[in-house]
Amino acid sequence: MAKKWTAPQIAKHKVSNGNEPLVMLTAYDAPGGRMVSEAGADIILVGDTLAMVVLGYEDTMQVTIEDMVHHTAAVARAEPDAFIVADLPWMSYHVSQAETVKNAARLIRAGAKAVKLEGGQDRVSMIEAIVNAEIPVMGHLGLTPQSVLALGGYKVQGKSTNAAVEISYEAKALAHAGCFAIVLECVPSLVGKLITDSLPIPTIGIGAGADCDGQVLVFHDLLGINHDLKPKFVRTYANLKELTVSALETYAADVRSKNFPSEDESYQLSDEDAEALGLYGATIPKDEDPLASW
Ligand code: KIV
Repeated sequence: MAKKWTAPQIAKHKVSNGNEPLVMLTAYDAPGGRMVSEAGADIILVGDTLAMVVLGYEDTMQVTIEDMVHHTAAVARAEPDAFIVADLPWMSYHVSQAETVKNAARLIRAGAKAVKLEGGQDRVSMIEAIVNAEIPVMGHLGLTPQSVLALGGYKVQGKSTNAAVEISYEAKALAHAGCFAIVLECVPSLVGKLITDSLPIPTIGIGAGADCDGQVLVFHDLLGINHDLKPKFVRTYANLKELTVSALETYAADVRSKNFPSEDESYQLSDEDAEALGLYGATIPKDEDPLASW
């Protein structure tokens, strides 16, 4: 049986203490949650990438707290061993502390064990409010996709000394505010390492190099389900889109050629009942068909 994590246990899990890196994967529904957990992942992230990989939106800013609650509950119903973290979507933690805490609580009531939010110093008061409500918070720094408009695109962050030092300060501020872990997205490997080495809590990298305390990938990217955009940091472990389309094409061909369904895939009457229904060779005369007037 896989280890059942708690937020305080994750908070102490540093690779520098001789631990293995944490494995985090996204999932958005019950089968996904079940498979990620069965594969032995430590953490399931119900990410707001839901917007693109499942709901067909252009960016994560389109996803609502209702969407996140709905999908978090679906993952939780799979009862995974892995620790469930759910993303607070854009605008669910920007307006007031009261609204932020209420939205975090909705994700917890849907089955998450912690929430994740994006941003640094500017979000510290919201993080503290959530932590004060006894809800564990995971931070997210570097490329923060909910800021895509402000950032001017999906770009690697922390590429200059100043920018790297800035992210490092932000990371310390989040740890100080009570975050139990921080996702580092799209920063140079050395910046990922420096931040990881400077923090008492684990970093979980996505495009942040091999020295983070864990790694995360998006389910659909890893399995080759989405082919539209493939960032450099994605390793595709399977080509499920091709496999799926090919299986669906075979089904379509079988239906059209009447190769599906077979006798074995159909339900049969007993010989007696079939005879009674007049289906044994004889056809029911139209004027006697009790269903004719329907
Ligand atoms: O929403 C998400 O899937 C994420 C990961 C990319 C870290 O935040």
